[in-house]
Amino acid sequence: MRPTSGGTRLLDRFGRISTDLRVSLTDRCTLRCAYCMPADGLEWLPTADTLTDDEVVRLVGIAVGQLGVTEVRLTGGEPTLRAGLPELVGRLAALTPRPELSLTTNGLTLARTAGSGGAAALRAAGLDRVNVSLDTTCPDRFRAITRRDRWHDVVDGLAAAAAAALVPVKVNAVLLRGVNDDEAPRLLRWSLDRGYELRFIEQMPLDAQHGWARARMVTAPEILASLRAEFTLAPLGGRGSAPAELFEVDGGPARVGVIGSVTAPFCAACDRVRLTADGQVRNCLFAREESDLRTPLRAGASDTELAERWRTAVWGKRAGHGIDGPAFRQPDRPMSAIGG
Ligand code: 5AD
Ligand code: SF4
Repeated sequence: MRPTSGGTRLLDRFGRISTDLRVSLTDRCTLRCAYCMPADGLEWLPTADTLTDDEVVRLVGIAVGQLGVTEVRLTGGEPTLRAGLPELVGRLAALTPRPELSLTTNGLTLARTAGSGGAAALRAAGLDRVNVSLDTTCPDRFRAITRRDRWHDVVDGLAAAAAAALVPVKVNAVLLRGVNDDEAPRLLRWSLDRGYELRFIEQMPLDAQHGWARARMVTAPEILASLRAEFTLAPLGGRGSAPAELFEVDGGPARVGVIGSVTAPFCAACDRVRLTADGQVRNCLFAREESDLRTPLRAGASDTELAERWRTAVWGKRAGHGIDGPAFRQPDRPMSAIGG
């Protein structure tokens, strides 16, 4: 049983407290990354099931106001597809206490000066930072990975994010065997030259096509070895006894992240909780159960009732994702419908 005296925060049975909320604003996307979606896309969530801006603001307001959430990351799919994104960001930035606000995006819209996905408009609305996905420095490879010829748009988007002071600009890269697995040092050099902070993320079994194979995955130790052939990396603290994930490059201050989500899971220190675009709380990327907040929300539940449901949802969080265990089953929802 969850202790009723356990305070107001999002506590689980293992003593972890969730303070970092990832909100998926849509499951749709303008790219079709091979490790995420099939070429034809997916069956999207019905619009009627998607939370409205008012509903997102209400739920995030409960999270920061009553549940101790301090960081809110907007994700997708591609969150800039959401109409009126700057207005939504502005409303979230006006919550008390004000959460840190960041956005995980494919970067295609960031260089826009009109419309809702531009970096300057998002910054003006109160966005603090962005993470942009970019897996290669080569336009042809980008087209092969994402099935769209948009490399230059992402690169322009990154520059726009830096110009708008959405800093530090972070770049997320996933390496795929036989596709871009030779690119770790080149991506790092490219990012350092532009002042971006690069993070490699091990490919996880979250693709809609269920094509992930452990044996083919490019592992964190492999990525580190290829970086160390060209750079000096000094581990920075922060993961306790777990393998380091952040490194100072060539004496600093530049840094690089290598996130071994599969080979070196950080589940024991996880402080994340997710809200899907259709209003389901997921206590883990790999959870097989969700807790519906949309139905009670639309049925008139009070903030107190919704907060209580949210606490119960997090209380049931499992110890870890168990990807390497015999009982592991990939979640039914792909990454694009969960939020990164
Ligand atoms: N494994 C690892 N990272 C993934 N991303 C999307 N799908 C996967 C996956 N299967 C990354 C995207 C983006 C972030 C949200 O997660 O590239 O940067
Ligand atoms: Fe879109 Fe991100 Fe999935 Fe690529 S990884 S298809 S950018 S949601």
